Amino acid sequence: MTIVNVVGAGLAGLSAALELGNAGVSCRLVSAQASERAQSVLAEGGINAVLDLMGEHDTLREHYEDTMRGGAYLADPNAVWGLVSDAPLIVRRLADLGVPFQQEHGAMIQRNFGGQKKKRTAYVKSSTGKVLVSALVDAVRRLEDKGVVTRAWHHELMDLELADGACEGVWVRDTHTGALELLGGPTVLACGGMGGLFGNLTTGTTTNTGNAAAIALARGVELANLEFLQYHPTTMPLSVKRMLVTEAARGEGGRLFALRRGEPWYFMEDKYPELGNLMPRDVVSREEEAVLKDPSCGGQVYLDMRGLSAHVWRTRLSDLRDEVRHYQHLDPAKEPLPVEPGIHYCMGGILVDERHRTNVARLYAAGECACAYHGANRLGGNSLLGAIRGGMVAARTLLDEDVSAQGRTQTRAAVSADTPASTNASLQTNTNDVERAMQKALVGCMGITRTQQELEAGLRSLEALPHTARVALARATVACALARQESRGAHQRSDYPHTSDDFRRTTVVRWQGDQPSIEFRALPEPRKEVPQA
Ligand code: FUM
Repeated sequence: MTIVNVVGAGLAGLSAALELGNAGVSCRLVSAQASERAQSVLAEGGINAVLDLMGEHDTLREHYEDTMRGGAYLADPNAVWGLVSDAPLIVRRLADLGVPFQQEHGAMIQRNFGGQKKKRTAYVKSSTGKVLVSALVDAVRRLEDKGVVTRAWHHELMDLELADGACEGVWVRDTHTGALELLGGPTVLACGGMGGLFGNLTTGTTTNTGNAAAIALARGVELANLEFLQYHPTTMPLSVKRMLVTEAARGEGGRLFALRRGEPWYFMEDKYPELGNLMPRDVVSREEEAVLKDPSCGGQVYLDMRGLSAHVWRTRLSDLRDEVRHYQHLDPAKEPLPVEPGIHYCMGGILVDERHRTNVARLYAAGECACAYHGANRLGGNSLLGAIRGGMVAARTLLDEDVSAQGRTQTRAAVSADTPASTNASLQTNTNDVERAMQKALVGCMGITRTQQELEAGLRSLEALPHTARVALARATVACALARQESRGAHQRSDYPHTSDDFRRTTVVRWQGDQPSIEFRALPEPRKEVPQA
């Protein structure tokens, strides 16, 4: 019988396991860490869905248009239409699983989030990711009790086992015993993003190192849009990473300002009267960067939440206030927070089609490790949605294509490799020195605004490092940024400041020989039912 590997136990992995398990298909949930330590738990502000609970006449079409516009028209229109169309059902199912979405006067409410005019974000205070993970863990546990889902805890992905252009399974290492094992079967990669490539500049867990994407690249899987790196506008320093101050703070009325010639200047409201502090993150981060460079602005941006009511603090943002007090020793209800942009999300990753297939048969990807829905810039609140839907769609596609393909699984399951391909030097991990040099090179050239000169210098530094899978991923990332000679969404080039129609294409990168090879590929044509954005 087929056993499906789901690698990664955050929301995308849990969602895939749930879908497979509910269909009665056995699945191994493989992860280096427990679900409770996945990146998903760090998502704070909420999940987008058109539920139209706030009397604003919200529509799927508006969610679609906001997502496409926010992503600077680089996302797959069919995938985005699928995402927004499934969102209401996904949120209702989560509520049925017991997620205590925020209510007022006995009815669920939604909040404002960036890049959207309507209140479309369902949430649980500022701990939405944590509560969603705990609901899905509980649901998957029931399938574990039945034996349909088994957990391979503390197992890290080491390699993919590929033959004849198809995935035969994954090599994993038991991090407690060091034993290597081949787990045969079709595979869903749901391993999270690659913010950890950038060391302590990320708001995410630094254990999301991009390992899966690096292995995939080394094995001929196509990656895409690696140049689109999201800087979240409101982060604060911690010792080992950046702390996220959720966008919900601005959704609930928080305001950004700088002291220009000693006077508070609410620059987002001044420059963008319509959406103000809730412009998409790429725009806000760029404006912050400009303010930080402006000598008349004192070199600091502040988030002002002093105007929020006691009711909002008590019922919607109490956990944010506790965290800021605990980690930063500041009370956001009483004093402005010094904030700056920090690396938050990778829009690019393993290229999937709208059914979450990679270019390798029997290999699927979902969640932040996949490049699926977000184009050149992701809207806040679409990541939890994308992770849950991505896991679900990948599982459904796999069920359609693989499990129901009689005979195929049996022949392919007979994998008899006893030597992991991961003995290949290219998949070795970085030494500490290489890791530090790689991070320095990336951080030096993949800022909010980039130039050819910086990118070329970064690439040269990376090329001088020993060849490892993650260094190759770093090289591919910089090569994508060099190749895209325009400014779009989260990729801003001061030497190519305009958006160009010629580049309204997906950046597809493969590893060929000893270097990345890049192609700009046309976006899928929207199907008939998909609105014109
Ligand atoms: O700001 C936030 O709460 C982040 C949410 C997201 O990235 O979707």
